Amino acid sequence: MSIKKLVRPCVLKIKPYKPGKPISELKRELNLKHVYKMASNENGIGPSPKAVSALKKSLLDINRYPDGEAFSLKKAISKKYRLKYENLIIGNGSDELIVLAMRAFVNKGDEVIIADPTFLIYKLAATLANAKVITVPLKAFRYDLAAMKAKITARTKMIFIANPDNPTGSYVNRKEIEQFLKGLPRHVIVFFDEAYFEYVYTRDYPDTTKYIRRGNVIVSRTFSKAYGLSGLRIGWAATSPDIAGYLNQVREPFNANSLAQVAAIAALDDKKHIERSKNIVCRGLKYLTEEFKKLNLFFVPSVTNFILVKVGMKSEIVYQRLLKQGIIVRDMSGWGLKDFIRVTIGNQKENRLFISNLKKILNTDAKK
Ligand SMILES: Cc1ncc(COP(=O)(O)O)c(C=O)c1O
Repeated sequence: MSIKKLVRPCVLKIKPYKPGKPISELKRELNLKHVYKMASNENGIGPSPKAVSALKKSLLDINRYPDGEAFSLKKAISKKYRLKYENLIIGNGSDELIVLAMRAFVNKGDEVIIADPTFLIYKLAATLANAKVITVPLKAFRYDLAAMKAKITARTKMIFIANPDNPTGSYVNRKEIEQFLKGLPRHVIVFFDEAYFEYVYTRDYPDTTKYIRRGNVIVSRTFSKAYGLSGLRIGWAATSPDIAGYLNQVREPFNANSLAQVAAIAALDDKKHIERSKNIVCRGLKYLTEEFKKLNLFFVPSVTNFILVKVGMKSEIVYQRLLKQGIIVRDMSGWGLKDFIRVTIGNQKENRLFISNLKKILNTDAKK
């Protein structure tokens, strides 16, 4: 009996998520000493020093299971973001919260509305939940909330809004969201994925946690980006106590590991690290956009720690040539974004290195 015959048909519909190339892999493959990863929207300045010191103190406790309830972390989040304890749920990264929402709410044949392109996990998780995925194209590289709302039917269970969006780095503002939520049917759960929340500097970016009172809104955040804890896998969501209860019911008992919990509590309190992380991104974004302008390259204005840029030649070639120089970016041609790469803002040395190599590549005869 072939194993393929045993596997759930929905599994055959998905392609595994392809993450940015790990530093160790490129070092191994090309025998490089220095590799600069500007591919996975991580925090290039490193983790919060307060988190590192808290981790060191906790290493000898890892013979114990974590606190499955994540009591202290939820208390710390509720204090910092002025949310109630019962509104919170912790995930093994915010990715897991997307999966938990599907597990708790989406039945076979339910419709899940997502943008195209957007963060890949929504489609992946919805397909694995046997949902019917309804995709709505972006409009000028931004979410088209009116078009998404127009797709709602009696079968719609969930709508995902990455705000800011990945891979574009664009966002939808308060007015657009309020318009979208107005008259939205109660049977539709809106999932705001705010992985890049901390980086957004514009005043019309809304605090969507205030909409959780509506009862059908989930807002997810993460410690993977500005807090610099991607490797530990920890994120959280704010939602109604009812939804939080159901998400809790379907998660693994110890989904958030103990080191991640300890580090997250310390990182929340590390104002200096967060400010530094934001400042570096702000400076880097300014530098990169100025350089792109000088090079006459189209880019999408970003409020995040990455930027989508059209390189004016095959992005696969640019990607491969940058790899040879030890610089990992993301080739976006597989996301339907022909000739685009997505580059994570690095420190100033990395940003300069990326630009000088990009210039060299664009000046070569590889354009054909
Ligand atoms: C829009 C978006 N949501 C969620 C995530 C996943 O974050 P986490 O590391 O918390 O699972 C990412 C990671 O790149 C992202 O871009």
